[in-house]
Amino acid sequence: MDMRTDASRRAGATTVETGTQPSVNRLVVVSNRLPFILSVQDDGGCSLVPGAGGLVSALAPVLRNRGGMWIGWPGSTARNIPDLDRVLLNATRDSGYTLQPVELGEEEKEKFYRGFSNEIIWPLFHDLQSDCNFDPSYWNVYRSVNSKFAQAILATHRDDDFVWVHDYHLMNVAHELRSNGLTSRIAFFLHIPFPPLDIFAKLPWRFQVLTSMLDYDLIGFQTLRDRRNFIQCARLLDPDLSLSGKGQVTTLNTREREVRLGAFPIGIDYTEFAKKAASGDVTAMADLLHKDLPNRQIILGIDRLDYTKGIRHRLEAFCRALQRFPDMHQRVTLVQVVVPSREDIPRYHEMRVEIERTVGEINGQFTQSGWVPIHYIFRNLTRVELLAYYRASHIALVTPLKDGMNLVAKEFCAARIDENGVLILSEFAGAAAQLQRGALIVNPYDVEDVAEAIHHAFIMPDGERHQRMRKMRRSVREYDIFRWVDSFLRAAIAKDLGDFPLPEEYVPHMETVVL
Ligand code: G6P
Repeated sequence: MDMRTDASRRAGATTVETGTQPSVNRLVVVSNRLPFILSVQDDGGCSLVPGAGGLVSALAPVLRNRGGMWIGWPGSTARNIPDLDRVLLNATRDSGYTLQPVELGEEEKEKFYRGFSNEIIWPLFHDLQSDCNFDPSYWNVYRSVNSKFAQAILATHRDDDFVWVHDYHLMNVAHELRSNGLTSRIAFFLHIPFPPLDIFAKLPWRFQVLTSMLDYDLIGFQTLRDRRNFIQCARLLDPDLSLSGKGQVTTLNTREREVRLGAFPIGIDYTEFAKKAASGDVTAMADLLHKDLPNRQIILGIDRLDYTKGIRHRLEAFCRALQRFPDMHQRVTLVQVVVPSREDIPRYHEMRVEIERTVGEINGQFTQSGWVPIHYIFRNLTRVELLAYYRASHIALVTPLKDGMNLVAKEFCAARIDENGVLILSEFAGAAAQLQRGALIVNPYDVEDVAEAIHHAFIMPDGERHQRMRKMRRSVREYDIFRWVDSFLRAAIAKDLGDFPLPEEYVPHMETVVL
């Protein structure tokens, strides 16, 4: 059976012949969060709203075709919500799949989610080891919550299920499933980077985490660099590990088993983005933004509140650009949108205060009558607002200190139906390997470099802007989210690993810098 989804066929993905094509039967997706956000009212009633995000739109067609289930935490620590089962059932009534909640209590949220996941793995895997809080009490709760997820999988498991686990919260799930005797295929995709050996080695539970990860049959990474880092770390456990195959997917042979390791750069639903960007309400709002800021180039930054996004460094670079290039005064406005996130973790709250202080200082220094250099927005944008900002901006500043992929970069390109706009992109975003031929690549720690790139973008002639944007859009369109799902599933179930090509534009330059 051709295992490609309708959606991937729609997106024009090509089939790679890998011998007899096995098929994915029921798909069981497991992630820390369910694709719906639960809100619990004071009277105990509850409601669900769909979570935004590419993963849901990519997996929904596969789940619909194959039938399946999504297992995850509904995001609230309220227990025994009387209405929950009915509300979950209603939410996916016509979707062909069901939701299976894993409920977490306060201590679990504190030590598994806030603690081990977001105070240890998150900063460590983004190379920010000094931000880690290696609290010894976190590990046991991380293990027990992973075991809880494994029990939820086992409770409904069928032999021919294909279990696909997502992200750093759940690295131990396969290990827990194997300990319970499950032998069927289990795959894992890490959405965030995997750090280099010297950084990973700081983790007090490094051997346990690595051993657990090797219980998966396929581990997907965002880039070749992440995969290479993982292989170097795996050699900590066993220096004689052997590797076979050199392409996008290779096989690691451990003493006990074979584990496939692949690089699958995640994409977005390009067609949907481009279509919505062309809609009347987005066009009207983009026009309004232009009218409000006449004779200006809009520079856009959009980030979830997170210290990995490099927002403070970016603001400093913008300030430096204004100091060095007075021709930009009155002619540029930086719109910095920060989407609230993880605010009950102290580091996030401190960061918000720091950003707001820096914005105030820069505006205080440069504002003139009729010109405020930074417009700062701290809230979620509606879909229409987001697309309107993408369309109205002349320059996007995407400068994370480290990022698994960074989808803002890809969304900006997809929304540019006029094939205009300059992308300034951090070399430490996974997207850089794919988009570096069109973007202006910068080191986000190098304030002078970013300041120069801002000015370079500001004076870039239209012809060059178009040429660069066209290249990036082609790549984002071809390697969209459907192709990502398709190639991951094929790599997981193919009998022989054939050719799994990376995007043609993919220049492993950024990957080799650190070799
Ligand atoms: C990153 C992670 C996701 C996570 C998201 C939002 O993108 O890779 O797994 O869901 O951040 O963070 P939150 O802590 O709110 O789930």
